[in-house]
Amino acid sequence: MEKLKDLAKAMKEHSYCAYSRFAVGAALECEDGSVFGGCNVENASYGLTICAERTAAVKAISEGKKNFRRIVISGSGDDFCYPCGACRQFLYEFNPDMEVISLNGKGESKSALLRELLPCGFGAESMETGK
Ligand code: THU
Repeated sequence: MEKLKDLAKAMKEHSYCAYSRFAVGAALECEDGSVFGGCNVENASYGLTICAERTAAVKAISEGKKNFRRIVISGSGDDFCYPCGACRQFLYEFNPDMEVISLNGKGESKSALLRELLPCGFGAESMETGK
C-alpha cells in the first residue's frame, strides 16, 4: 500500500495543470497486482480536461486490465483529495466495491468503498427492464 501511495504522490509531477495549477496524481491497482499511474491533463478548452483517476483507469483498460481493486488519489492541496463525480461514475462501471483511498497534504489517508462515495450509482444492472 505504501508503494501505491508513493506512486500517486509522484504522478503529480507529470500533471499538466496549466490552468488550475492543481496537480493530481492517482495510482490504480488491479486484482492481479498490476499498477497504473495517472495525472490530470488539462486543456485550453477547459471541459476537455481529464482527471488523474480517469487517466489511470484508461491506461489500465487499454492494457487489458479491468478488475480494479483500489485507487489512491493525491492532490496538491492540504485537504483530502476525493474523486470528482464524473470519476466516481467512471470507476463504478468496473468495480463499485473497489477501495478509494484519498491522501491529504500531510500524506494522511482516508479509505472508503466506491459504492459509499457514489450511493445508488448507475450501472449496467440499472438498465435491466425485466422483459
Ligand atoms: N481533478 C482530478 O484530476 N481529479 C479529481 O478527482 C478532482 C479534480 C483535476 C481536474 C483539474 O485538472 C484540476 O483537478 C482542478 O479541478
